[in-house]
Amino acid sequence: MERSIAQLLQLESFTKSEIVELLSSDGEDKVQLFKKSAAVKEKYVKNKVYFRGLIEFSNICEKNCFYCGIRKTNMHVRRYNLSDDEILHAAKFAFDNNYGSIVLQSGEIQSPVFTKRIENLLKKIARFSGNKLRVTLSLGEQSYKTYRQWFESGAHRYLLRIESSNPELYKKLHPNDELHRFERRLESLKILKDIGYQTGTGVMIGLPFQTLENLADDLLFMKNFSIDMVGMGPYIEHADTPLFQYRQMLLPKEERFQLALKMIAILRIMMKDINIASATALQAIDKLGREKAIKIGANVIMPNVTPGYYRDDYALYENKPCTDENPEDCISCLEARIALSLNKIGFGEWGDSAHYNNRMGKTETNQDI
Ligand code: 5AD
Ligand code: SF4
Ligand code: FES
Repeated sequence: MERSIAQLLQLESFTKSEIVELLSSDGEDKVQLFKKSAAVKEKYVKNKVYFRGLIEFSNICEKNCFYCGIRKTNMHVRRYNLSDDEILHAAKFAFDNNYGSIVLQSGEIQSPVFTKRIENLLKKIARFSGNKLRVTLSLGEQSYKTYRQWFESGAHRYLLRIESSNPELYKKLHPNDELHRFERRLESLKILKDIGYQTGTGVMIGLPFQTLENLADDLLFMKNFSIDMVGMGPYIEHADTPLFQYRQMLLPKEERFQLALKMIAILRIMMKDINIASATALQAIDKLGREKAIKIGANVIMPNVTPGYYRDDYALYENKPCTDENPEDCISCLEARIALSLNKIGFGEWGDSAHYNNRMGKTETNQDI
């Protein structure tokens, strides 16, 4: 007998086919899904949003992912690399504005010089903030030793999107060489967790060749991995990339957007205490995209605090928002937007993943700085 969506939503966990059913929901069924996920969010992580100041400090990348606008062989990109002073200035801006934490993100580079540079920056950030600014790294695949060194220098969280948990699909999205192995990416994620990082992952939604079954598997992967944080958003085509030739296969943008919201809602129900970021890519499709995600389950937002004049050059996809704005603009803009979504901003709080605290047996959650 067919179960109704209302009955499905009474369950605490879902099978793959149930997730596919939820991902296909529309109309009143979709409204019910969003209502349920909003209620789970309010009950388990409260209607609070944490800010992470995002510093995209360099768009230089050694990799060539087929979907990404700053891939190595895209010669139309003006490459930049912020100075240490510029990075520290952006970190201080976030700290002075009472953000609990920052994210350091760049293209992927593996070298001893890069490792050392990040280590020095981490130490300087710990010093000026008196260890009061949580730092998340999003610097791709690195060796065990490098991950360990950064952890010991003060990084507490790491974001490494698996991009797709399906090895076959992953292969279609990346060159077939040593730099782009699915197995290596998965292994990196395991190492991060073993070292003790709050570990984050994510996927792109609405990719060419991707099925609803693939997306259901992605959510089950996150659950089985007991991930602490997730950032996932719609795939957005970029003209200077190999994947652009498959654009006819894509769902219309609004449908990709809705699918991304459904992914967030289902994940919130499946993993009640994790941190879910409202991906910037949501806003590339819908002007109120990030607020909509916050309403139905996301609880983290990453205001861009990269100095304004570099932002245009970190174009992973087309139509990336906030590229004409400065850090100050984004703060006041986001404050107004979050107030509209009836959430509070967790100023002066770390906003650690409650899931991490629970799995590590820590009692404190989201303590004040
Ligand atoms: N559309 C959406 N997201 C993208 N990313 C890279 N290229 C695109 C794109 N075209 C995401 C990847 C990567 C993160 C930094 O940005 O998931 O991990
Ligand atoms: Fe480099 Fe990341 Fe873009 Fe891949 S997705 S090309 S690793 S910046
Ligand atoms: Fe950057 Fe609104 S968040 S301008």
